[in-house]
Amino acid sequence: MEGLRERLRRISAAWHQGVDDVFSTYPLSTPEGYGRFLQAHAQALFPLEEAFERAGIERLLPDWQTRRRRFALAADLEALGMPVPVPPALEIPTDDAWLWGAAYVMEGSRMGSRMLGKRMQEGDRAWSHGALGYLCHRLDEPLWPRFVKELDAQAGQLDEARVTEGVHYTFRLFNGAGSDNVASAAP
Ligand code: HEM
Repeated sequence: MEGLRERLRRISAAWHQGVDDVFSTYPLSTPEGYGRFLQAHAQALFPLEEAFERAGIERLLPDWQTRRRRFALAADLEALGMPVPVPPALEIPTDDAWLWGAAYVMEGSRMGSRMLGKRMQEGDRAWSHGALGYLCHRLDEPLWPRFVKELDAQAGQLDEARVTEGVHYTFRLFNGAGSDNVASAAP
């Protein structure tokens, strides 16, 4: 039987394709292009992580402290000598269903990051090796399988329409951040 995570993956496939398309336009072969890519992620991730914390994300994810990535992302930008964005705060809903949906997108984004991070690690981009803390964040830990287990355990207790709203919001947030920074990332 299809679990909650599988349903979310199916429902959000087109939204995922959207962010994949937007972020794939950044030229990761240059420090400038990679820095712009990281800045775009920061525009969405910094305020969303902070809003999660204000909303009490640790009641959903007690291991949240190991999941947050904004400090690693800021350190990568500093290593590249790129300005660290200071995006405005986000007001988000605080109900569990919405937060689970938003967290699904945030945590799922680790997979694309992992793929890109490994590619950069294995490539000849030595300049990037001190700036992969975000893309390669806690690669050795089973953060995603653990998240999926917790998410699926919630199925039946959450209003799935509301979960989907959190999913959609978060994909839109990243899509918007990626689109805003991409013009200046062109080679
Ligand atoms: C260049 C950009 C990206 C690429 C190449 C990419 C690629 C991938 C890949 C390869 C997977 C694993 C699919 C699988 O094993 O079934 C994945 C999963 C996922 N990605 Fe991305 N991704 C990108 C950007 C993003 C962004 C920006 C977000 C959201 C902020 C995102 C959210 C997700 C989610 C939620 C999943 C989990 C789907 C699931 O299995 O339930 N991705 N991505």
